[in-house]
Amino acid sequence: MTRITVTVDGTRYTDEVEPRMLLVQYLRETVGKTGTVIGCDTSNCGACTVHLDGQSVKSCSVLAVQADGHEVTTIEGLADGDRLHPVQQAFHEQHALQCGFCTPGMIMASCALLAENPDPTEDEIRHGLEGNLCRCTGYQNIVKAVQAAAGAQAAAR
Ligand code: FES
Ligand code: FES
Repeated sequence: MTRITVTVDGTRYTDEVEPRMLLVQYLRETVGKTGTVIGCDTSNCGACTVHLDGQSVKSCSVLAVQADGHEVTTIEGLADGDRLHPVQQAFHEQHALQCGFCTPGMIMASCALLAENPDPTEDEIRHGLEGNLCRCTGYQNIVKAVQAAAGAQAAAR
């Protein structure tokens, strides 16, 4: 077992983990952040996307030990109290989800995309989210939501 200290959604956690434990398992099973979900076993779907030091990563393709000393943000850490993050609000308003399974990963990937490119074109949004799959094929409204979030963030600046 290896001892790791990881800050998750602003709280520091120190735990003993097996070296082979995946970050997504650590987040869900040890820390209890079940908002981050597992949608595949091939690193393809993006449902498990979180931010590691602000960068979007698929948490099923990162070992928990690799997060030692780093900061993780999950979908559960985005809202400000009762106030949804602008990207969460836009997904809600634009009906950008059906079953909702892909949504945590889609939102985390969208936030990272907008942090890098605050005013993306439709093509840039589709390209930026190509690592995230939606089985309900709700891509049209997901793109609209990212555009709406970009607009809301620009208005707030
Ligand atoms: S669960 Fe990580 S990419 Fe599918
Ligand atoms: S809303 Fe169902 S998988 Fe995307």
